[in-house]
Order: sequence, then structure tokens, then C-alpha cells
Amino acid sequence: MTANAHENPVREAADGNRSGGGKPDLPLLFQPMQIRGLTIRNRIVVSPMCQYSSEDGTPTDWHLVHLGQFAMGGAGIVFCEETAVVESARKTYHCAGIYTDKQVKAMRRITDFIRARGAASAMQLGHAGRKAACKAPWDGFRPLRPEDAKDGEAPWQGISSSPVPVGAGAIAPKEMDRDDIRQAIEDYRVATLRTLEAGFDICEVHGAHGYLIQQFLSPIVNHRTDGYGGDLQGRMRFGLELVEAVRAAWPKEMPLFFRTSAVDGKGGHWDINDTVALAKELKARGVDVVDTSSGGINGPLTVAIVPRVPGYHVPYAERIRKEADITTMVVGLITEARHAEAILQEGKADLVALARELMWNPYWPVHAAKELGVPDYLDLLPRTYGWWLQRREDVRRIYPTGTEAEIPMTR
Ligand SMILES: Cc1cc2nc3c(=O)[nH]c(=O)nc-3n(C[C@H](O)[C@H](O)[C@H](O)COP(=O)(O)O)c2cc1C
Repeated sequence: MTANAHENPVREAADGNRSGGGKPDLPLLFQPMQIRGLTIRNRIVVSPMCQYSSEDGTPTDWHLVHLGQFAMGGAGIVFCEETAVVESARKTYHCAGIYTDKQVKAMRRITDFIRARGAASAMQLGHAGRKAACKAPWDGFRPLRPEDAKDGEAPWQGISSSPVPVGAGAIAPKEMDRDDIRQAIEDYRVATLRTLEAGFDICEVHGAHGYLIQQFLSPIVNHRTDGYGGDLQGRMRFGLELVEAVRAAWPKEMPLFFRTSAVDGKGGHWDINDTVALAKELKARGVDVVDTSSGGINGPLTVAIVPRVPGYHVPYAERIRKEADITTMVVGLITEARHAEAILQEGKADLVALARELMWNPYWPVHAAKELGVPDYLDLLPRTYGWWLQRREDVRRIYPTGTEAEIPMTR
């Protein structure tokens, strides 16, 4: 497969992290930002949101509309959902994958649309590991059972650092030997080349939420006694070797993100100090942004480890940013423009990601821009919307709701 870099109107010469875009009068949330050779139009990120709507791992029109609406709404970066590097790495039969040419082609249609709307597109490469072969969230993520085969959803065996099943009723995963480890890293390398071919601007390695990489990081699952287990260095080794392979395959001028679970559970098995140590190693290997999340190694993802207060990952992102001196992206119940702006102003993170709020209001960036006093906030929208809305805004300013007027009943 060739790794042709595609044209990107927002891509420029590489010059490191965190630089602004020369618009100091704007709120930070709306200042462009350069990461390597990519300039993003603002610091609002659509966080990855699995849709369980792919067909044979291939995104459909659903994904085009779902992701396209966020680009239309003015976000700086639009993340696609966690996307499996091989078929057996999927969580469910309906998860997305990037292991066939058909999938690449379907994604290219989406990334082209996102770029045409002025946003950058981001891939999240994932591997479910022992969390493979389950049902969707609305079926409780329950492990597939042999009887599901009659609906075309036969269970399959996942792989992991150690043969520890994810829960009652789940098949114990195969403990990965050296060949399996080499193969998984190779799968990521090939998926990275496909990500490039699919037209993405950013590649993220999903190292959080209890999936394969975290199954090596966390001693809750990793009970190995070889060089890929044991102490922190041993448990980090798989993830770091994998990142090295991805970085080598992903062009130098293009940004690489890594999503981390800052803490993996109550009891301090993997804690923020471990995450800071990991972030330093990631930075040394060319990772540009640490995307800060939490949890997922044990129990359902919907069970909170960190209290779900607004901005619940901000303290982690702040520590990683300061102690590992790396750009951070933060997510977690951030719903208000002023809150997002304050996180950036106070130097707690560099990018603000939203998931559920954007399902509620895909035009959140435009509303936030208006609230924060960005003069040409309607420019974030397509002209076919903005032109009309500008006229509506002008009239609303002159005639606020409640204005009395004589409405003619005849010509
Ligand atoms: C429908 C849905 C699907 C999600 N899928 C993913 C995913 O594919 N990868 C991932 O890393 N996080 C996923 N998440 C987690 C979100 O990216 C985000 O971290 C989380 O929802 C907290 O942000 P919020 O409070 O703004 O929703 C998902 C969340 C939702 C609501």
C-alpha cells in the first residue's frame, strides 16, 4: 500500500506544538493552533463516539451525516469513532474497522467532506483485546454467547496480555505470545498507512478505556512475568513499541495523539503518576498530544471511577501537561463555552473535547463563539446557512422579541 500524503488546505510547515495562529484578539478557544504541520481552526474537538452502525466494519451514510454535521457546526477537529485495526479487534459486529480497501474508500468520502468544511479529521485506532465480542451498550455490553450465532453474531476469542476474562460469561482471551505481540504491532502499522490513505489529518492510538494497550499497562489484567509485564517499564513496553511503529508509518509533519486512561480504577493500580511517566515516554517517541480520559479496565465503561462533575478529567490533563511538558486534550462533561475557555486560559489543557454535548447540539462551536464575543461567529457555518442567519441576527437586533409592530392584514 502506498502512503500518499493528500492535499490539505490547513496543513503547513512543521514547527512544533502549542503555537497559536496569530489571532490574539480571539478567545483562546477560537484561536487557531498548529500541531506539527497541521493548523486547526479552533481548539474544539469532537471526541470519538462509537456508533455501532458499521456494516462489515465499513462506515455508512450514517457516519457521513453524523460526522459531517460536526464539521458543519464549526469544530476544529472531528474524531471518528474507535476503529479496529483488524476484524477480530472489534468490540461488536457493528464497530468500524480499517482493514479493507472498501473501508478506506468509505472513510475517504467522510474525510473529504470534513476537510471541505474547514475542519481537520482524526482517526482513532483501536484494538479491543479481551473486550472483543460483545453486544452494544444498549444491550449492556454483554459478552456474545454461542446462541447468538443464530443471529449471525457468533462469539470469538480475543487476545490480551494475560488470559483474564473481562467478566462472567466472557471467553478467556488468548495470552499473547511474542508472535502475537509482533503481529498486533504490525496490524497497527498497516492500519496507520490505511489511515493516511483514507485522508485523515490526525492519527490517535487508543490507549485507554481498558482496551488492548491498557490491558498491558494495567496490573489489573497484565500478570505476565516476561519483558512485557511486571514493573511499569515492562507493562509500558507493548504500547511504546506500538507507538514507535505507528509514528514511523505516520508522516513526520502530521500529528499523533494518544488517548490514555489517567487512572484505571479505585485502588491506585494505574494512577496519575504512572500516566505522567507514560506521557514522558510517549513524548520522547513523537506523540504530540495526550488525550486524557479514565477508566474502563474493569466493569462497564458507564460505571464512573472519577466523579462525573463538569470537567472531571481536567486535573489529570493539567498534571500531565505540566509534569510531562506535553500538549493535552481534555474531555468529560464540558458543556459550557466559558468553562471550556477557562480551562484553556488557566493553562490546564490545550484542546477541549466534547462528545455528548455535541450530540445534543452539533452547532455548539458557533453558539460558543457568539457567547464568547467572536465577531464573525457565523463564518464558522457554511455560507448557505451563515448568509441567511446573518440577516436573521440583524433583524433580531433591531426588533427584539416583544417588539410591537403593526402587521398589515391587507396589501
Ligand atoms: C456514544 C458514545 C460513544 C463513544 N465512543 C468512544 C470511542 O469510540 N472511543 C473513545 O475513546 N471514547 C468514546 N466515547 C467516550 C467519549 O469520547 C468521551 O470521552 C466521553 O463521552 C466523555 O465526554 P462527554 O462528557 O463530553 O460526553 C464515547 C462516548 C459516547 C457518548
